[in-house]
Amino acid sequence: MSSVSIAAAERVGIDLGERSYPIVIGPGLLADPASYADLPASATALVVTNTTVAPLYAQAVCGALGERFRSVRVLELPDGEAHKNWETLNLIFDALLGHGADRKTVLFALGGGVVGDVTGFAAACYMRGVPFVQLPTTLLAQVDSSVGGKTAINHPLGKNMVGAFYQPRLVLCDLDTLQTLPQREIAAGLAEIIKYGPIADMAFLDWIEANIDALVARDASALAHAVRRSCEIKAAVVGQDERESGLRAILNFGHTFGHAIESGLGYGEWLHGEAVGCGMVMAAHLSEKLGGVDIAFVRRLTALIERAGLPVRAPDLGAERYLSLMRLDKKSEAGEIRFVVIDTPGSAVMRPAPDALVRQVLAECCA
Ligand code: NAD
Ligand code: GLY
Repeated sequence: MSSVSIAAAERVGIDLGERSYPIVIGPGLLADPASYADLPASATALVVTNTTVAPLYAQAVCGALGERFRSVRVLELPDGEAHKNWETLNLIFDALLGHGADRKTVLFALGGGVVGDVTGFAAACYMRGVPFVQLPTTLLAQVDSSVGGKTAINHPLGKNMVGAFYQPRLVLCDLDTLQTLPQREIAAGLAEIIKYGPIADMAFLDWIEANIDALVARDASALAHAVRRSCEIKAAVVGQDERESGLRAILNFGHTFGHAIESGLGYGEWLHGEAVGCGMVMAAHLSEKLGGVDIAFVRRLTALIERAGLPVRAPDLGAERYLSLMRLDKKSEAGEIRFVVIDTPGSAVMRPAPDALVRQVLAECCA
């Protein structure tokens, strides 16, 4: 059996002591048995995926896992953010218990961020924790959600409100899977890639600007670089602050506004990445009002987000509704909303902002 794919792949390490793991990035990884060679020994595997991804990739994954596991089963969840909930989580527990899964059973999350977050949470809970592997198949999942161990489901009152920090044993970013993504999902992933520039690496922002057309067109080498650099930045941040006691919050740039858009419109109306893209425009405006960046920077970031194919005008939910939704954000303390803002290009901080300034931002950014 050939293992050219894994040998040629790039690796980014995430350093978390005994919970460290590799993020492997390259083409042809899912179907290569060598990709899974270092996983803990176990007889059984459950591949959790969804009705869209299963017909595309489940057979290839099961073929490769069949060389290592005696029993490999597939569970297809319903597709979509609207299904990131208790009912879907329970389907995983039903399957695990129904198949007699034990403490060594390995869960494989094959899909985008929704499958990854729900499967990771199931792995954290089942028998108080079983090993799991992230097999992200969206750009957003490869550059963000599969890395760092945040797992969750949504609550009708707030996004990702019920979950756990629980690290995977391995992340395999098979770049070939990006070729079957709808274009809207490519744009959604680009939002999280762009995010890393203003918060951590202005040279990367310059590179994204120079290569945005290639990224939108799915140029393989541009995507490979963007995935690797994004994973490096995320791994470095998570390595310093796994449980978000401080620094990790910068990865939420644009998310306070973005989560309000997602839950305010109803989950699934706007894609998560679309809401984050627009949320970054709003957070950039707030950063400007707080003195961290100038208006030229806000315009530059807005133009890039628009070129990625993302919305830059926010839905008009009304200022009161935005404020009440944002008070539910996980970063809020005692009802005070805390925003991630740029304090200088390439660096972000978390801080509260006067309601009056937030209202100005909403007035400027809402359609
Ligand atoms: P998603 O999981 O809904 O996937 C997007 C769509 O693409 C779905 O319809 C999916 O079935 C389909 N799909 C997946 N792979 C495909 C492929 N290769 N070809 C064709 N179709 C494919 O959305 P997403 O953008 O991947 O993830 C968004 C979720 O991730 C949100 O719930 C968000 O909260 C979460 N998230 C979590 C973290 C974290 O740190 N845990 C970070 C960012 C986002
Ligand atoms: N996506 C934000 C985080 O992982 O912390």
